[in-house]
Order: sequence, then structure tokens, then C-alpha cells
Amino acid sequence: MAKRTERLDKVLSMSGYGSRKDVKKIIKQGEVTVNGRTVTDAGTLVDPAADLICVFGEPLLFKEFVYIMMNKPQGVISATRDSRETTVIDLLEGEYSHRKLFPVGRLDKDAEGLLLITDDGKLAHRLLSPRKKVEKVYYIKVKGCLGEEDVKAFSQGIFLGDYRALPAKLEILNSGEVSSALVTVYEGKFHQIKRMVKARGKEVIYLKRLSMGPLKLDENLSPGEWRELTDEEVSMLKAMESDYQL
Ligand code: URA
Repeated sequence: MAKRTERLDKVLSMSGYGSRKDVKKIIKQGEVTVNGRTVTDAGTLVDPAADLICVFGEPLLFKEFVYIMMNKPQGVISATRDSRETTVIDLLEGEYSHRKLFPVGRLDKDAEGLLLITDDGKLAHRLLSPRKKVEKVYYIKVKGCLGEEDVKAFSQGIFLGDYRALPAKLEILNSGEVSSALVTVYEGKFHQIKRMVKARGKEVIYLKRLSMGPLKLDENLSPGEWRELTDEEVSMLKAMESDYQL
């Protein structure tokens, strides 16, 4: 495997030991060893996957990237920072303030469900690339009666005024004055599902994302709760190839 070197102060800072300024001080004070040797130069190049780095005598656990699954609650926006609104990053309560985390794609403010938050730009890019056509499944409640005509229209690709949506799957769970359904889409346009449903003369009154590619929302997470992905979930995402076929 290729050796991946980084500056020691960067590695410490990414691992939560404080700002670059803070960690430079710790290093200067002789509190950091690399492979058993005290290092006082903050610019020393280290390979966090191969070198044994200890801070205050304790081994450092280095994570190149952080991957968080959140059950986004309603009323919170899918952004990193906002002067007026609470963002999904605010919900992490500063726990990862030393990392530049961002949400992978957006859920509307009134939507809830699966949101991946990471600092792995490459993975985020793959998941969001329109070319990849990553499958996303939503549970929706709709004001109005969903029927077979709607299923057919979804499968043919609904025209949204300026754009024809890709064929999507609508599975009706319950049909009545208020209907519920599962919707599978392979793109992520602005207000996509609300617009598709509106084009059929109905209105989405509740929307929850259940999955994104191979990643499924952990049912143990209540709205607003989050956890890091397991190694298996990260591997599944990294191994992901689109299986778009309707
Ligand atoms: N479609 C929508 O209309 N809203 C979302 O938040 C996600 C998909």
C-alpha cells in the first residue's frame, strides 16, 4: 500500500487534539512520540496508518475520514452553517468541530430521515453524481388518493415543467384521502418528490428518506439522533456500483 504522509500537527488536529496552534504547543512541549521517539517539530511527516503516534503517552486513533448517519429531524436544514436556522452540523454539538464535515446532499427542512454527513469529498461526489444514478428510497404520506395511474406515470418519468424526471418506482402502501407509499428515485433534483407528486395533482405532507444506495437508515435512531457508520457500512458505500434498472 502506498505510504501516505501528513504533517504531524495536521494529524493531531484532525484527531481532535485542538487547533493547529494548540497542537503545535503540545508537540513543542515534547508530549508527542512517533515510533517511541519524542518529536518536537510540528512539520514532521508521519504516516498515521503505519507510524505509532502517542500523545501524552496514549496511542492516537487516527481516522482519515468521518462518516455519520443521522436521522435528520424536521425543522433543521441540511447545511453546514446558518446565521438563523439550526443546521444538521449544529446537531453534532461540536463533537467533530475539528473536522470539516458536510451533509451529502440535501433533505428539505420539513423532511426527515437518512442523511450522511462526512468529510470524504470523493465518496460524497460519487454518491451525488447524476451519472451514478444512486438509488434513494423515501416513505411518503400524500394528501389525495394514489392509484395505478400514478404508478404508471412515475414509471414513465414525470414531466416537471422544465425537465422530465427519470423513471421512478411508486409502491402504494395505503390509498385513501391520505395515502402512503414508497418512492424510489435515481436522481436528486430540488424538491424532486414533492414536485413529482404535485404534477399528479396531490401533495406530499410527510417525507422520510429510508435509504441511499446500500446505506439504510438505522431504525434505532430517533429523529435528531446520529451515529458513526460501521466499518461494514463504509465498505459497502465504497464498493458501491449503481444498479439502476427499472
Ligand atoms: N424530494 C423532496 O421533495 N424533498 C426532499 O427533501 C428529498 C426528495
